[in-house]
Amino acid sequence: MPLRMDATGSSSKIHAGGKRDNSGAVAFDFVIVGATGDLTMRKLLPAFYECFRRRQIEKSTKIIGVARSGLSVEDYRARAHEALKGFVATSSYDDATIQDFLGLVEYVSLDMSDKDADWTGLRAQLSTERDRPRVFYVATAPKLYVPTADAIAHNELITESSRIVLEKPIGTDQATAAEINDGVGQHFTEEQIFRIDHYLGKQTVQNILALRFANPILERVWNTDSIAHVQITAAETVGVGKRGPYYDSAGALRDMVQNHLLQVLSLVAMEPPTAFSAMDLRDEKLKILRALKPMSDHDIATDTVRAQYGEGHVNGKLIPGYLDDLGAPTSTTETYLAIRAEIRTARWAGVPFYIRTGKQMARKETTVVIQFRPQPWAIFTDNPEPSQLVLRIQPNEGVSLSLASKDPASEQYRLREAVLDVDYVKAFNTRYPDSYEDLLMAAVRGDQVLFIRRDEVEASWRWIEPILHGWEENIRPLEIYPAGTQGPASSDELLARDGFVWKENT
Ligand code: BG6
Repeated sequence: MPLRMDATGSSSKIHAGGKRDNSGAVAFDFVIVGATGDLTMRKLLPAFYECFRRRQIEKSTKIIGVARSGLSVEDYRARAHEALKGFVATSSYDDATIQDFLGLVEYVSLDMSDKDADWTGLRAQLSTERDRPRVFYVATAPKLYVPTADAIAHNELITESSRIVLEKPIGTDQATAAEINDGVGQHFTEEQIFRIDHYLGKQTVQNILALRFANPILERVWNTDSIAHVQITAAETVGVGKRGPYYDSAGALRDMVQNHLLQVLSLVAMEPPTAFSAMDLRDEKLKILRALKPMSDHDIATDTVRAQYGEGHVNGKLIPGYLDDLGAPTSTTETYLAIRAEIRTARWAGVPFYIRTGKQMARKETTVVIQFRPQPWAIFTDNPEPSQLVLRIQPNEGVSLSLASKDPASEQYRLREAVLDVDYVKAFNTRYPDSYEDLLMAAVRGDQVLFIRRDEVEASWRWIEPILHGWEENIRPLEIYPAGTQGPASSDELLARDGFVWKENT
């Protein structure tokens, strides 16, 4: 279920607007800037198709692809068709529905960062209805965000019901993030700016709040009294592929932690918001981002690990290292990291939060592990490990809780771990929607609950920046780990020092 925003919550200055037909489907104009790019083909168009198939999109809607290539609308629809064939699940693919959907897709050849270009083609596509949602989705290089916003404003296309969606990365540090936020903010109000983080579109990430705040049984123990530590892992089995040039300038810290993993951390750690509104929710996330203990040079040396994959074996096959993938003789960009973070609040005093992420690792898994404290006074001699609550963000979406249980096969009072496990796909008997489905429709509705506010972006950068600098100064030297492994041994040592181990094979 998508999260619902309290109607009074966030968007007081923005028109949710838009006509709906009898089934509740909404009509809107959605301009995709960078419409020939990978993101549009792989994610945006397939996500819109799913929403259309579920009758959330009314038939007068226009999805207007804009890019510099001089394509005809037929050419663009043919490309879109190919993308849908490749990226829509077979169980959802239906020829007649695909054809109807392609009827909503338009194309305009225009460089939207050039305010003096000929904008008549785009203008002609846009409805003149005042309250019809108009979304500009900027899926181009971040350096074009401000020129694009300037050009949209210069050509007077911003209506009261307009919003702009910005993909990550918002800047490469605090200063560049502020430049983008200031530049775009010249023309769009904060309520009209939707900074996307696709992790917030994941059902299992949204579900962190449901688990915590709709189940008092969990929320009552969600603190330092009961929790020993928290692990947040995002391990991937892919390398950098064709994204080498971008990735090499970013690294895992900017690519995954500044946005996705700090968002997950803030949802795990935040206080309950007073209402389920974008404003209240984001206020609470912000407090956590601000409460992260700043990393001193000493902390960076002892509490961070940075590494890069070298060649290694995966299923008996030799996989090239990062430098080979990049085609460069040297690079100190990290493809793996582990960080021990602390949150300076009464709830979390003394509870380390370990974050790790990496490419070319042994297994793909994104998880949050809540490790509970042991019994203060043990009456059994062979207590198994204290309970763990594991939130499986992906794959095998679900949640499990390990509990000590009496082993029925033992004559004596022996204990063993037993696991309560919920597999969400089975439990709800439904497919897991792609993150972009919720996010695109939320942007159309003007619902900011799943989007990042300016101050959150800036607070995240503020915490990240000293680590970036420390690593540039080699306070923590780069290590190499073989592709197909779970990272360097020093990452295990980071936890072992506190008496803990990473949870593998969730
Ligand atoms: C993107 C990063 O934001 O998230 C990629 O740029 C990464 O490097 C991806 O692979 C991971 O997303 P997911 O949804 O597969 O966990």
